[in-house]
Amino acid sequence: MDVGCVLLLWWVTLIPGILSDPSDEACLTHLSKSLEDSTNLPHNWKEENFAKPCNDSTSILQGVICNNGRIYKLSLNNLSLRGTISPFLSNCTNLQALDLSSNFLTAQIPLELESLVNLAVLNLSSNRLEGDIPPQLALCAYLNIIDLHDNLLTGPIPQQFGLLARLSAFDVSNNRLSGPIPASLSNRSGNLPRFNASSFLGNKDLYGYPLPPFRNRGLSILAIAGIGLGSGLASLVLSFTGVCVWLKITERKMALEEGKISHLMPDY
Ligand SMILES: *[C@@H]1O[C@H](CO)[C@@H](O)[C@H](O)[C@H]1NC(C)=O
Ligand SMILES: *[C@@H]1O[C@H](CO)[C@@H](O)[C@H](O)[C@H]1NC(C)=O
Ligand SMILES: *[C@@H]1O[C@H](CO)[C@@H](O)[C@H](O)[C@H]1NC(C)=O
Ligand SMILES: *[C@@H]1O[C@H](CO)[C@@H](O)[C@H](O)[C@H]1NC(C)=O
Ligand SMILES: *[C@@H]1O[C@H](CO)[C@@H](O)[C@H](O)[C@H]1NC(C)=O
Ligand SMILES: *[C@@H]1O[C@H](CO)[C@@H](O)[C@H](O)[C@H]1NC(C)=O
Repeated sequence: MDVGCVLLLWWVTLIPGILSDPSDEACLTHLSKSLEDSTNLPHNWKEENFAKPCNDSTSILQGVICNNGRIYKLSLNNLSLRGTISPFLSNCTNLQALDLSSNFLTAQIPLELESLVNLAVLNLSSNRLEGDIPPQLALCAYLNIIDLHDNLLTGPIPQQFGLLARLSAFDVSNNRLSGPIPASLSNRSGNLPRFNASSFLGNKDLYGYPLPPFRNRGLSILAIAGIGLGSGLASLVLSFTGVCVWLKITERKMALEEGKISHLMPDY
């Protein structure tokens, strides 16, 4: 073999080495395993494609965008995916955007996502995620979008989220969150709140600015319903008793009348 041949062989073996990454492979393999029905994944999501998902900045996997041979964006939304979110997603260490919205994913948001230090977009909205929102997510300092609306999340909104200086979109509406809204997420700059009430609505036990006062809200709705139902029932009962009394009276009168008549009539 001459030097040219050796060099060529060296390149041929090296190039796939540069463009594949064991962490990204672990990330994809575990992600697909944590889903109950991986047949809902795009058709080219097959294990043999996980070892080398990136060809520089393009990917053969639908929903994956690469940058410098590493997975950069991962979006698998609206695919009716069932199962859980794998903690091994944290192995996609270059991930900048994660979108798993509009599926049927259950269980908790893995706190291991904290190690995705480049993460800027986290969209897990419209799933069935439960448990607390991991405060550790605040370690992803570049986060500028957190969308967790329409899930079954409980517990408080982590105070630590106030530290996310780049946060420009935040939505936790329609969950089961409780407790006060952290001031750092709600405070005013000028006359506007940082995030308005639409980011927080639909959580029964969440309270504080910018949500409308809890008591008044609860009372007014209950009061209107109560008054409406109560007065409706009362008038129904009243009119029924009125009719009943009137019927009783006329019945008695008629009976009396009949008695008089039969008394006057001679028996045959
Ligand atoms: C990588 O992409 C380049 C151009 O985009 C293409 O020519 C090449 O065949 C691809 N390699 C593989 C292994 O898919
Ligand atoms: C979600 O997918 C369904 C079909 O599977 C489609 O009808 C619907 O428009 C999609 N929704 C969005 C928001 O893309
Ligand atoms: C993958 O992630 C798991 C869980 O976060 C971690 O324990 C493991 O060390 C990671 N492996 C690689 C290759 O990064
Ligand atoms: C999150 O994804 C949903 C669709 O699945 C989309 O409607 C929503 O706008 C996204 N959130 C943000 C903040 O972009
Ligand atoms: C509002 O919150 C930011 C942090 O998000 C903080 O730097 C600022 O001082 C707060 N402003 C007021 C008026 O509380
Ligand atoms: C609340 O903020 C969102 C964007 O963050 C905006 O689209 C919406 O119109 C705002 N709603 C109100 C009532 O100001």
